[in-house]
Amino acid sequence: MPERLYQLTYLSNAKFDLPKSDIEKILEASRRNNHAVGVTGLLIYCDGVFVQVLEGEKPAVEKLFSTISDDNRHDTVDIIAHGEIEERIFPSWEMAYLETTPDEFDDRVGLKGTLDRGEALERLKGDESQIKKVLYDFASSLADGGQASTSD
Ligand SMILES: Cc1cc2nc3c(=O)[nH]c(=O)nc-3n(C[C@H](O)[C@H](O)[C@H](O)COP(=O)(O)O)c2cc1C
Repeated sequence: MPERLYQLTYLSNAKFDLPKSDIEKILEASRRNNHAVGVTGLLIYCDGVFVQVLEGEKPAVEKLFSTISDDNRHDTVDIIAHGEIEERIFPSWEMAYLETTPDEFDDRVGLKGTLDRGEALERLKGDESQIKKVLYDFASSLADGGQASTSD
């Protein structure tokens, strides 16, 4: 039986301006834990906002998401997309990492020129195919030599 894969993408707000060392700690934990439970993904940090994609078997993703949601370095954790997937978008990364400026982020996600970011993100939430397109775009930029974190 092929493995059934599940993917969850959320957005959250850092509780404070996280120093590099905090991000490093999060990536260290990801390398330590995610491989063991077969979870891969992407973490983006942009001006106090996290976007994280978790993919793997559903119970593993849900358990990890529950741990992450309880982390007091961020709050207002808001799922923007979740569901079964045919293939992993980030198969090579226990947790790839990208840091972007708000302008860069809006540009990549297709929000550039939008007056109300909050509203635009709300609209994006219902648009699974656009979200998928954006995630594949991020994945290809990692493959092109973006800043990635992997232990293998
Ligand atoms: C935005 C964010 C993303 C995180 N992502 C992960 C992750 O992918 N994997 C992980 O193990 N921990 C992640 N963490 C850290 C967990 O909340 C928790 O601190 C960690 O899993 C504890 O690991 P340990 O029990 O090995 O010390 C994240 C935390 C934050 C704030």
